[in-house]
Amino acid sequence: MKTRPHKATLEALISLCKRRGFIFQSSELYDGLNGFWDYGPLGCELKRRVREAWWKAMVQRREDVVGLDSAIIMHPRVWEASGHTTSFADPMVDCRACRKRFRADVLCEEQGQQLVQTAQGYSLPEGIKCPACGARDLTPPRAFNLMFKTFVGPLEEESAVAYLRPETAQGIFVQFQNVLAVSRQKIPFGIAQIGKAFRNEINPRHFTFRSREFEQMELEYFIKPGSDTQWYEYWVAERLKWYEAIGLPATSLQASAYPPDKLAHYAKACTDVLYDFPFGWQELEGIAARGAFDLTQHQTHSGKSMEYFDPETREKFIPHVIEPSAGVDRVALALLCEAYREEWVPKADVAGEPRRAEPGKPVPEGYEPRTVMAFAPAMAPIQVAVFPLLKNKPELVAQARTVFSQLQRRWTCFWDQTGAIGRRYRRQDEIGTPFGVTIDFQTLQDQTVTLRDRDTMQQDHVHVDDLQAYIAKKIAY
Ligand code: GAP
Repeated sequence: MKTRPHKATLEALISLCKRRGFIFQSSELYDGLNGFWDYGPLGCELKRRVREAWWKAMVQRREDVVGLDSAIIMHPRVWEASGHTTSFADPMVDCRACRKRFRADVLCEEQGQQLVQTAQGYSLPEGIKCPACGARDLTPPRAFNLMFKTFVGPLEEESAVAYLRPETAQGIFVQFQNVLAVSRQKIPFGIAQIGKAFRNEINPRHFTFRSREFEQMELEYFIKPGSDTQWYEYWVAERLKWYEAIGLPATSLQASAYPPDKLAHYAKACTDVLYDFPFGWQELEGIAARGAFDLTQHQTHSGKSMEYFDPETREKFIPHVIEPSAGVDRVALALLCEAYREEWVPKADVAGEPRRAEPGKPVPEGYEPRTVMAFAPAMAPIQVAVFPLLKNKPELVAQARTVFSQLQRRWTCFWDQTGAIGRRYRRQDEIGTPFGVTIDFQTLQDQTVTLRDRDTMQQDHVHVDDLQAYIAKKIAY
């Protein structure tokens, strides 16, 4: 598969994320905790955009999907029924020389081989070595359960063991009958949930891509048995459209269907939506046709019916499920990767075309470098920046404050009155603010403001009364 030349190296992106407050290492003060990340002022806005865009598309703009917010810690029997207690495990190996620990399947893949799986379990192919110290002294692979354990109540005993959920989906399945009873939905219909999930990943890596604490956006869409293919294909197409709508171009996306021999035993089909990350094509979301597996498991383990009564045909059946399951953090990371650009721009910052910077070449005469995060306007963490041209002119500041407070009611805005206007624009470019509004002396005369576009750097004069409509049109999602 061809990988396109990338705009961002992961290193450049990580550095910008820290410098500008998108993402920090968790517990950095104490040297960090591997696999955990904190989202700073801009990162938490970006994640909010992702969640909001998903919720709008999957719940708010549909009649057949309702929401749920279930607890992170559930009865441990939920995880017995779902199969997580016994089989939610990755094969793990240890290096006897340097004592580092790795995921065996990933290690084999990185060294151009495949982990051997037999009825007896896993074994390593010949010649696999430790990527840290090079020793060929690895333990045989053994299953490592990824669920984080904790205790409910004051006693740390076996009967008090509980787990942090490794997916949000099970919260939906166990509330299926309650939601059905109150929501006046008929099949086909869905239940959507956004929330934290936890997996004790053996090798967290690629920045936030594989973390130990992350957030999922999951839909369980309940259907009549037999309509699986129709709804599965529908959801694969819908989900691809959504990624394009939030600013990931079709050329950076790919739908990768699982071959039948790679499917889970209960699954009828599964497609991963992949994004072209700087570290290769990797999964953003999985869309799976899971049959009646989950509801049947919960019916068996709880002894309570998970059947649906169809009022039209008067039949009873356990619904089948199509599950689009995406990660907030991975979508946010893809948006960051896609947005990052290094450019050369004309110095005066009036008119003129920005040019893509050519690595290794000097900045041409009359140009200066800029880093710009070209988020789709609807996804930008800060949507509008407001600048009074001069901070020591009270009439300009007062007028700018009026504009700012009007815009703030609808969008996330940033106030900046310090420094030369070109510098203020540049600071906003680097965090991806699509619109800059400058209040200058002309504003005092005719109530027009200067509206600067982040990508083209073009400046238009817009009447303050038309400003909201102008911005709303561009930010519409
Ligand atoms: N209920 C199905 C399920 O959980 P999954 O493929 O294991 O399926 C769904 O997870 C999505 O959750 C992934 O496509 C990914 O976006 C996100 N995800 C899973 N593990 C993750 C991790 N360790 N770090 C960040 N995101 C993760």
